[in-house]
Amino acid sequence: ISAGEGAGPGTRGTRTRSAGVRGEADRALGSEELAEIGMRFEVDGEIATITLDRPDKRNAQTFATWSALARIGNTLPGQVRVVVVRGEGPSFSAGIDLRMFTPEGVPGQGSFASVAALDADVSGERIRQAQQGFLWLRRPDIVSIAVVQGHAIGAGFQLALSCDLRILGEDAKFCMKEPALGLVPDLTGTKPLVELVGVSRALEICLTARVVEAAEALRIGLAEQVVPVGELEAATARLASALLTTDRAAAAATKRLLRGAQGRSLEEQSAAERAEQVMRIQTMFGGHGGPGND
Ligand code: CAA
Repeated sequence: ISAGEGAGPGTRGTRTRSAGVRGEADRALGSEELAEIGMRFEVDGEIATITLDRPDKRNAQTFATWSALARIGNTLPGQVRVVVVRGEGPSFSAGIDLRMFTPEGVPGQGSFASVAALDADVSGERIRQAQQGFLWLRRPDIVSIAVVQGHAIGAGFQLALSCDLRILGEDAKFCMKEPALGLVPDLTGTKPLVELVGVSRALEICLTARVVEAAEALRIGLAEQVVPVGELEAATARLASALLTTDRAAAAATKRLLRGAQGRSLEEQSAAERAEQVMRIQTMFGGHGGPGND
């Protein structure tokens, strides 16, 4: 996977790429290809698990990581309803691979210096492609859960923010380090951060680049649960199965409503509720439908 490879918009059924490239973006990556990038992907029934698997480098992320994330989104098996995103080892993710800051960069993927040499449009497009790895985690047909132990720095924090829910180990530490490095958080994390903690707290967290530990994260709304690190797996499994107890189509419709709520007026939101409910009622009680027949 090269730095410049795109992976489509990350939403099933709304591809925009040319036929040749689309074919490649729609091919699921094999476990060996993922292992080369330092990732794993497993599906168990309705639950998929994405694991950042470069613990010796604290799951540092590269363009290949983001491209692979987008490919996983594009090729997610249709039965999947819950996507768990976790990191192997002591840290969830230490953020962008620091080799990007060196003149040599990441082999085969360039460096910030090589991105700087590109046309502004082209480097913007590279960032857009990277963002596709994160955006699909919010789509309505799935619920995504970030499972965070240890550090989640920069791109690691943003990956956790791109998920719908966060379960933290007691040792979790978030840090938005980008501004301290002269950059901005650009991997889709600024909007969920502001939505979760408000603009003032988001400003304070980003512009000090300080560490937010688990207990504070829970208190300010950056996490739904904090558990001892040894209990993370069991707590995640419990949450995933609880999420699977609701009706699939009703869950997707409800997520569409909740995700859209902030951008709508009360009247618009009420109209959206009516439209979704009419669809539910027609599906469940209409002519050919019945519960579970959607
Ligand atoms: N990129 C590449 N390698 C990394 C890395 C990173 N981001 N973070 C850690 N590693 C490597 C270390 O170089 C070390 O490798 P070697 O064993 O080969 O020397 C190995 O992982 C273990 O690292 P530590 O010994 O430092 O592990 P630790 O557990 O003591 O500390 C840590 C963990 C606090 C995460 C620390 O490694 C650290 O501060 N890492 C850098 C974090 C960082 O600044 N990330 C960039 C954030 S900005 C961003 O992500 C977005 C952007 O656009 C700029």
